[in-house]
Amino acid sequence: MSTEFNLSDIQGNILRGYRRNFVRHLVLEVGDRTAARAFLAAAVDGTGADVPAITRDVTWSIRPEVCFNIGITFQGLRALRTPAEHLATFPTEFVQGMTARAMKIGDFGDSAPETWPAPFDRPERVHLIASVHSDTEAPLDRAQEQVARAFTVLGVRNGRNLPDGKVFFGYVDGISQPRFKHIIDPDQAGVDEPMDPLGTALLGYPTRQEGVTFRVPSPHDLGFNGSFNAFRVLAQDAAGFEAYLDRSADLLMGHPDRDLLADPARLDRIGPGLDMHGALREVVAAQMCGRWRNGVPYELSPDAQFPDEPVSLTNFDYTHSSRCPAGSHLRRGNPRGGPIVQRIANYTRRLVRRGMSYGPDFDPANPDDQERGLLGSFIGANIGAQFEAVMCDWINLGLHDPRITGSNDPLLGANTPETSWFNLNLPDGREIRLDGLPRLIRARGGAYTFLPSIAAIRYLSGLTS
Ligand code: HEM
Repeated sequence: MSTEFNLSDIQGNILRGYRRNFVRHLVLEVGDRTAARAFLAAAVDGTGADVPAITRDVTWSIRPEVCFNIGITFQGLRALRTPAEHLATFPTEFVQGMTARAMKIGDFGDSAPETWPAPFDRPERVHLIASVHSDTEAPLDRAQEQVARAFTVLGVRNGRNLPDGKVFFGYVDGISQPRFKHIIDPDQAGVDEPMDPLGTALLGYPTRQEGVTFRVPSPHDLGFNGSFNAFRVLAQDAAGFEAYLDRSADLLMGHPDRDLLADPARLDRIGPGLDMHGALREVVAAQMCGRWRNGVPYELSPDAQFPDEPVSLTNFDYTHSSRCPAGSHLRRGNPRGGPIVQRIANYTRRLVRRGMSYGPDFDPANPDDQERGLLGSFIGANIGAQFEAVMCDWINLGLHDPRITGSNDPLLGANTPETSWFNLNLPDGREIRLDGLPRLIRARGGAYTFLPSIAAIRYLSGLTS
């Protein structure tokens, strides 16, 4: 196995994020194979004035106006006429595609692929997802026009950063990410978590799974330095979330242990100007996520969103007596070194998360039910062992901790009010159960894509049959 490492062979936005203001995801079909291959050849060389250049993971002296990257579905590899013997070397979940895997990742009921709007209602036509990032919107239009000359644009999804790094539901996101040796990422300065081996995100390198190396699709130029992406369009019921916080706080107002959740003498540390009801809403939101809405980890500051002394946003771990609920989104997404049933799995399913919000602003004082949510990319070297394993075992079954097994992630899970519950932690280890959790996040589209290396894009552009 080769362990050579050449950053300029890797597409950007995998090992470190772009931090741009806008994204446009172009959902593409290969109509004319020759035009598509010619586009890829020009994009990878960055020579054509009329074709956006593929952005690599190199350190910039000047920020490019646009960052342009591609992901290809299995149907896309076929449409470009990748030879059958090479197609056969790709992993099953990627070959089958996201819609075929719906039951494994909680996409049923009102998240079922049958309910997805175009273009994701015709997964066999989704061949590529080209993602264009920029700080202003005009360059996105230009890139779209250029792409449309070579591909059929089936659909477009526009995303933007909300103020203060927040996502809908009001949380700061994008704090915890895997981090890799040799990658200089200012966002990771001061992070004191274990390093992740390159094989977490790239094909062809050692992984953290003992003795396991993921198979690199052949030929070497096609598979090596590639990665996989679960691209998800996730609608967030912001009004439903705020209403659930209200209902929970109503219930907790009369609970005998209420003051253990929010100390009446220190409500201002939970949020300036909050009364008890408002503070309880914030405690419920913080325990559901594992972070207060301003990003402060519940584990390090369980009594205050605004602690007296600053706390690290990233350097913490969980124990049996953690104040952060085992069922919180954060502990399900990454249990860190904490006690889990599958001990060997600690740190093995890490996902690179890239995402921006879509849809109109939300004002909690004037709630509406327009569609809004997250355009998320969940990136790793193996979709089955990372994204699907997290979604299935941890998010939707809670298999890692017997105390929560059978319950779903309170934010992301396939919840139904009739059966779903979430346990709030009290400081003395007792719990308060919240029932009636609705499903707050629904899938509205997506695809599994392969994120080819630079050499692989060249290989694909050079196919001839
Ligand atoms: C609309 C959908 C989602 C929302 C609103 C959301 C929200 C959040 C927030 C606010 C955080 C805390 C910020 C941070 O630690 O960086 C977080 C962390 C995280 N989320 Fe999500 N998330 C969503 C979907 C997902 C999905 C689909 C997955 C994939 C399985 C996922 C996995 C994770 C992981 C792994 C972490 C980091 C945990 C850690 O390392 O401590 N999230 N999410």
